[in-house]
Amino acid sequence: MKHNLLEICYLIGSVTFIIGLKMMGNAKTARNGNLIGAVGMTIAILGTIFLVNNIQVVNGFETKVEIPAMIYGMIFGAIALGTVIGWLTAKKVQMTKMPELVSMFNGMGGACAALISIIEFGHSHHEGAAAPATGMMIAIIAGLIIGSISFSGSIIAFLKLNGTMNKPIRLPAYNIINTLIMLSVFGFGAYIVVAGGSMTLAWLLFAAALFYGVMFTVPIGGADMPVVISLLNSFTGLAAAFGGFLYDNKVMLTGGILVGSAGTLLTLVMCKAMNRPLSNVIFGAFGGSSAATGATDVKGSIKDMNTSDVAVLMNYSKKVVIVPGYGLAVAQAQHIIKELENILEERGVEVKYAIHPVAGRMPGHMNVLLAESNVAYEKLVEMDDINPEFEQTDVVLVVGANDVVNPAAKSDPASPIYGMPILEVDRAKNIIVNKRSMNAGYAGIDNLLFYDPKCSMFFGDAKKALTELVAELKTME
Ligand code: TAP
Repeated sequence: MKHNLLEICYLIGSVTFIIGLKMMGNAKTARNGNLIGAVGMTIAILGTIFLVNNIQVVNGFETKVEIPAMIYGMIFGAIALGTVIGWLTAKKVQMTKMPELVSMFNGMGGACAALISIIEFGHSHHEGAAAPATGMMIAIIAGLIIGSISFSGSIIAFLKLNGTMNKPIRLPAYNIINTLIMLSVFGFGAYIVVAGGSMTLAWLLFAAALFYGVMFTVPIGGADMPVVISLLNSFTGLAAAFGGFLYDNKVMLTGGILVGSAGTLLTLVMCKAMNRPLSNVIFGAFGGSSAATGATDVKGSIKDMNTSDVAVLMNYSKKVVIVPGYGLAVAQAQHIIKELENILEERGVEVKYAIHPVAGRMPGHMNVLLAESNVAYEKLVEMDDINPEFEQTDVVLVVGANDVVNPAAKSDPASPIYGMPILEVDRAKNIIVNKRSMNAGYAGIDNLLFYDPKCSMFFGDAKKALTELVAELKTME
C-alpha cells in the first residue's frame, strides 16, 4: 500500500515536471509552470521521506530500519534552512545577476549528486554489505564524476560572473592538458568500477573530478559563462538521473533526464543563435576580455542626432520597433522604455519590441527585463516574426544592442559573427541607435549598421537618454 502510494507521488512529480517545463516555454505561463513543478517536487520529497520502506541488507538479510525522530528533525531542519536561504537569495537578486544565481544553484545540485554517490559508495563498501552489481557501480561512479565536475565548474562560473575571477587564465596547450585530465578522471573511475576500489580511492576520484571541473571552466571567457552554465546544468541533470537509476527512483530519473536534455538543448540553441560551435565556446578565446577583431574594414561616417530630433521623428511615425540589448539591462532602463511606449501609443504610434534569442547575456534576458516593467507579452516579437515587418517600420530604436543588429553577420564572411541570425533593422526606413559611445559589444567588432546612411546615433546612457526623450515628447503635442 505504502509502496503504491509512493509510486503515485512519483508519477505526480514526473507529470508536473513535464507540464511545468512545457509551460515555462511561454512567458505568460512560465510563472505557473514553475509553481506546478515546485508542487510536484514537494509531493515527491514528502513521499520519499514518509513512504519509503527503510530496508537495509545486513549480512545478506533484509532488515527494516526504524528511523529515529532526530533524523527527521535533521531532514526538516535542512529543508527549512535551504528554503529560507533559497527564497531570500532569489527574492533579493537583481535581474542582471540571475546567471550567477543559476550557476550557484546548479553547483549545489552537482554537489548533491556527488555526495549521494560518495554515501552510496560507502554503503556498498560497508562490512557485510553485498557486492554491488556492475550497473550500480557505474551509476555511482558516473554520478560522482559528473556531479563533482558540475559543482566545481559552476563555482568557477559564479566567480567569473561576479567579477572575482575576471582575468582569463590560459595555460599553454590547455585544451590538450584538459583532455588528458578528463581521460585520466574517467579512466580512474573505470578502474574503481572494475577493481572495486576503496573509500580512499572514492575520495581521490572526487578530488580529481573537482579539479577537472575547475580546469574545464577556468580558461573560458566570462561572457561565455551563460553557455557554460547551461552545459554544466545538463551535467547536473545527468548526474541526478544516475542517482535515480541507483535508487530505482522514477521521479529523480525523470527530473534528471528533463534537466539534462533541457540543458543540452538550451546550450545548442544558444550556440546556434551565436553561430558558434560548442567547441569554439569551450576552446575559443571569444567573449573573454581579449576582444575579437572584426575583419570588416569599416568606411564611412556616422550621423549624430539630438534628443529633440529623435522625439520629432518618433512622434510623427506610424510604427516604431524597439530593439533592446545588453545596454538596456546595464542601464536598468526597462521602466523608462515602457513609459516611452505608453506615450507613443497615446499619440497613435504602433510600438513593438524585437527580441533576439541571445540579446543580453542570458537566455530570455530581454523578456524578463521587459516583463519587470509590465510590457505586454504580445508586444515582444521574436526575431523570425519581426524581420519581415521592418520594411514597414518607420523608426527602429536600438537601445543598448549591438551584435544582434550587426549586418556584417550577413554580409562579411570574414567577420567572427558571420552566419549569426540577426534582427534585420537595416530594412527599416529610419534607424536610431542609443548607446554611450562607438565601443564594440560582446563580440568586440565594429558595427556596419552605424555607418548606414539611414542610421543616426543617439549617444548617452540608455536611462538618461530615454528619460530626456520622454520629457521632450511630453512637451510636444
Ligand atoms: P552587445 O553586442 O554586447 O552590445 C551591448 C552594447 O550596449 C554595447 O555596445 C554598449 O555600447 C551598450 N551599452 C552598455 N551600457 C550601456 C548603457 N548604460 N546605455 C546604453 N548603452 C549601453 O549586446 P547585444 O546586442 O544584446 O548582443 C548580445 C551579445 O552577447 C551577442 O554577441 C551574444 O552572442 C552574446 N551572448 C549572449 C548570451 C545570451 S544567452 N543572451 C550569452 C552569451 C553571449 P557602449 O559601451 O558604447 O555604450
